[in-house]
Amino acid sequence: MWLLSAMLGMFMLVGCSSETDLVKSEEHHGADQGGRASIEFAPPSPETIPGSQLGEQIRLGYEIVVNTQEYGKPYVGNRLNCSSCHLDGGLNPNAMSFVGLAAVYPEYRARTASMHTLADRINECFERSLNGRALPPDSSKLQAIVAYITWLSQGVPQGAALPWRGLQHIDSRRSLDPANGKKIFANKCVFCHGSDGQGTMAAPPVWGPASYTIAAGMARVTVAAAFIKSNMPRARGWSLSDDDAYDVAAYVNSQPRPDFADKVRDWPQGGKPADSPY
Ligand code: HEC
Ligand code: HEC
Repeated sequence: MWLLSAMLGMFMLVGCSSETDLVKSEEHHGADQGGRASIEFAPPSPETIPGSQLGEQIRLGYEIVVNTQEYGKPYVGNRLNCSSCHLDGGLNPNAMSFVGLAAVYPEYRARTASMHTLADRINECFERSLNGRALPPDSSKLQAIVAYITWLSQGVPQGAALPWRGLQHIDSRRSLDPANGKKIFANKCVFCHGSDGQGTMAAPPVWGPASYTIAAGMARVTVAAAFIKSNMPRARGWSLSDDDAYDVAAYVNSQPRPDFADKVRDWPQGGKPADSPY
């Protein structure tokens, strides 16, 4: 296993890394037990995408991710891009990075109680996070995003536990205080997201008709708190206390946002998280 990983690791180095421990998502931590060596986060940069035909497809996938408004047009129903949340084109290890994901799908999802391919998972974000609709399975745009993520996953052994996957979960140690959240929002977020949360030239909407739906992962307070803690204010991640991150997440997610009609079909066999808003 060690030798195999080392040989496959064109960009990924097998070894002990204290740095990656910092971004370990609790949810996936468990899968990393048994003395397995951690994989290093070392994705190729989009500038090194080859000039071949495959390279063109990968580059289109990157364009869709960073400029979904333009390249994903008919399938997007709000003003967000994939990279509004999957920061830096999915290359940011603190923000649900795309790096390595091709090696972990297909995967079972309790929300639908079914196996999901990587393409299925991408479509879930189109429908829920972008308030849009799913791309057809044979869509060249969908295939381009899969190609981009697959390119970012080269060298990661199939089934590997990715230490950086998802978000680093934080705990709330007291009950939520949305009034404090409102204050934090006014002091630390309004400058870019606007006092009405609807976004400005500097940042996308965090609530209202052009933001994510109530069925998006970000609509869960634990998810938004973890994302905000490690990434917001933008470029000043880790500056809020855990309590403040939770309070501002609770405030943002208590504001109006688009509904999701198909929500009634979620978690058909149970497993609904405690902080699901529906
Ligand atoms: C509003 C924020 C937001 C936007 C916009 C968004 N996503 Fe996501 N995405 C998330 C969150 C949060 C998760 C993790 C959700 C969870 O808790 O399961 C996620 C998960 C994913 C995953 C699975 C990650 C994993 O570790 O398995 C993929 C793939 C993905 N998104 C792709 C996309 C693509 C492609 C787009 C654009 C078409 C997009 N997302 C737009 C928030 C967003
Ligand atoms: C300096 C400007 C800036 C500040 C201040 C800021 N953000 Fe953001 N935020 C951004 C940008 C820009 C993005 C989109 C990421 C990108 O395009 O790189 C974003 C994305 C987000 C997102 C996910 C996308 C969406 O629109 O839903 C959330 C949630 C969020 N910010 C919450 C907050 C909260 C809460 C605060 C205050 C604690 C905050 N932000 C402060 C600039 C900022």
